[in-house]
Amino acid sequence: MTHFNSYQNEIYLQGLADAVPAFTTDATLLEDAARVAMEPGPFGYVAGGAGSGATVRANREAFDRWRIVPRMLTDATTRDLSCTVLGTPMPAPVLLAPVGVQSILHADGELATARAAAALDLTMVLSTASSNTIEDVAAANGSGSRWYQLYWPNDNDVTISLLNRAKAAGFTVLVVTLDTWTLAWRPRDLDQSYLPFIRGIGTAIPFSDPAFLAGLEKTPEQDPQSAILRWIPMFTGTDKRWDQLPFLREHWDGPIVLKGIQSVADAARAVAAGMDGIVVSNHGGRQVDGAVGALDVLPEIVAVVGEQLTVLFDSGVRTGADVVKALALGARAVLLGRVYAYGLALGGEAGVRHALRTVLADLDSTVALSGHRTLAELSPDLLRRS
Ligand code: FNR
Repeated sequence: MTHFNSYQNEIYLQGLADAVPAFTTDATLLEDAARVAMEPGPFGYVAGGAGSGATVRANREAFDRWRIVPRMLTDATTRDLSCTVLGTPMPAPVLLAPVGVQSILHADGELATARAAAALDLTMVLSTASSNTIEDVAAANGSGSRWYQLYWPNDNDVTISLLNRAKAAGFTVLVVTLDTWTLAWRPRDLDQSYLPFIRGIGTAIPFSDPAFLAGLEKTPEQDPQSAILRWIPMFTGTDKRWDQLPFLREHWDGPIVLKGIQSVADAARAVAAGMDGIVVSNHGGRQVDGAVGALDVLPEIVAVVGEQLTVLFDSGVRTGADVVKALALGARAVLLGRVYAYGLALGGEAGVRHALRTVLADLDSTVALSGHRTLAELSPDLLRRS
């Protein structure tokens, strides 16, 4: 049974000792709090989107166009939001999206995130652009469940090595991000000339990789610039093709999920390619300015491929109501991105835990008060186009 909304009682009880929560409980305001707490470069990197920011806004507007129609007297006192997604049991259909370069948010970076995820039994998706190694993140995550996100290198030996390391470190599902094979035009970063990778941030995984190191004359410690210049063109700047996917299947024996799908046509190609899942996502509006809000394309994609593979969703999820809407429109689970990233910036592991518990408690309350008890009961019927 789900007890996420007990976080509410915990917070009100603190009030008896005149204490208030260390961070806001309105997940949509975490960004404002982070803006004050963070340096402009890192904050712009997290908050910013591609171009004019139209897609960042479209993601939120897409949620606003749906409203929940609550039902009464449904015996919703106890809920069970647990599920199993691609073989991973979860207490609720909520994962931590891959977010790279977390050391620009907090010194503990991905290690703090891995601990917070494990403490709540949530699944973390580790980015290839991590500031900590695959092995160190796995150790911090302990017995937690973890998936690995691949930025697909142009060098096959390095790709195979990354997949083998992830497998050996207990990552069970491979998430292949398709939409960021090169960086978008991101004015907020450009105006500050701020790109972490060029500074060697977010390179811990290649810099600890034997296949990558084999191509260097000196170690990254001895000659960071050469290592950076070898890595950047290896993981960015070259697009792949659908007919290359069998290579990943050959070297990864678990489920494979394609992240960044935004069209029915591509979702159908993922099915044809024998993929196990997709993440309907526009990378939080960070790649194609003017792209459609991710939630706007979710229903049509689910209608065509929802029975054939696992459809996950991210981009713009901030509140419990957002999670309910995405699930009702057919997502099997959602990934949170900026919400927990701001939590990390504000308070390290405790901040991530707070951000996640906030969304989970809000989700639990919204499911309950709209008259539902299980995920199976969430269908488009509970929504109205506003
Ligand atoms: C991301 N995202 C991302 N995705 C990915 O596949 N690999 C990565 O390394 C990163 N890195 C990253 C850094 C930062 C700072 C952000 C904000 C996002 C995208 C992420 O997984 C997810 O798709 C979006 O964050 C979803 O949008 P919202 O809900 O965060 O707005």
